[in-house]
Amino acid sequence: MIPPILRQQLPHTLRATDFSGLGEKYQGKVRDTYRQGDRLVLITTDRLSAFDHVLTTIPFKGETLNRLSNFWFEKTKGVAKNHVLDVPDPNVTVARACRPLPIEVVVRDYLTGSLWRDYQNGQHGVYGVPIEPGMKRDQRFARPIVTPSTKAEYGKHDEPISEKELLARGLVGERDWHKAVETALALFAEAQRWAATRGLILVDTKYEFGKQGDELYVIDEIHTPDSSRYWLADEYPARFARGDEQRMMDKENIRQWLIKERGFQGHGAPPAIPDEVRVELAAKYLATFELLTGAPLELAAGDVHQRIGESLRARGYL
Ligand SMILES: Nc1ncnc2c1ncn2[C@@H]1O[C@H](COP(=O)(O)OP(=O)(O)OP(=O)(O)O)[C@@H](O)[C@H]1O
Ligand SMILES: [Mg+2]
Repeated sequence: MIPPILRQQLPHTLRATDFSGLGEKYQGKVRDTYRQGDRLVLITTDRLSAFDHVLTTIPFKGETLNRLSNFWFEKTKGVAKNHVLDVPDPNVTVARACRPLPIEVVVRDYLTGSLWRDYQNGQHGVYGVPIEPGMKRDQRFARPIVTPSTKAEYGKHDEPISEKELLARGLVGERDWHKAVETALALFAEAQRWAATRGLILVDTKYEFGKQGDELYVIDEIHTPDSSRYWLADEYPARFARGDEQRMMDKENIRQWLIKERGFQGHGAPPAIPDEVRVELAAKYLATFELLTGAPLELAAGDVHQRIGESLRARGYL
């Protein structure tokens, strides 16, 4: 069942923002970031990226992700310092402007996705993490592992890298790296515990860290369906035993659609995404939000850009 409001919002999705006077703008694949001194105004748009291409917009995606990320930042603030200063609008986070570590800390508890593909081809050595032979697709590890990747500049692909290599290349100092890994594993354990109480498996996720002064902060987003994999827990054992795909509650849905229905894996011109597919993905994001938080998300159809402008003016950011 697709909530009708998702279809109603199709003509109003937020593709880009244009707030002159808000600060210097940087456009990522999903977020528009404006710098105000040592603060960043991060606006999560409705853009959908997959295989490093921006493909379309998804109704209420920006709001759902920003709300969910802040739900998690709030829940885990006792575990790790994060960048959030203020949330003046459902799509907007005002954050400490940090110097991002040029790596992503990926934590995985199951052998799936790109790691499964690398494992089958014998190419998982690049991460420098031993994985025992004979494992099956979607099998759980004995304990979560960290598979770092470089944070490529806009338009380039992130590359897997080993801990040894990233330290040898001086991408991150040793102390910061160890602190980042320790923090990532603690956050992951906390989030897995919570997700389990909500009937979901947090399969893997990606963290970004940044420094302001000497302090290390979790930045960007955490535990969203864009940056994480979630599976429905009650269906995991039977599906795993049969070798079937898991019930995915995250962005993997659209990746699978692109591969199976359009033969697209990032090369060549990206295909058009039908409205029906956009709305179905919106419903997935919404369902994941509601499952995790245990609360319905009260959405209002309408012009997102205009509402954000009003929120920012009301709070003195604009
Ligand atoms: N507190 C922060 N301080 C500095 N940079 C941050 C902070 N929070 C997030 N960022 C950066 O802002 C950008 C957010 O935009 P978005 O998530 O759309 O980028 P992306 O497409 O994933 O990555 P990129 O733009 O680097 O290709 C990212 O580059 C992220 O690293
Ligand atoms: Mg990002």
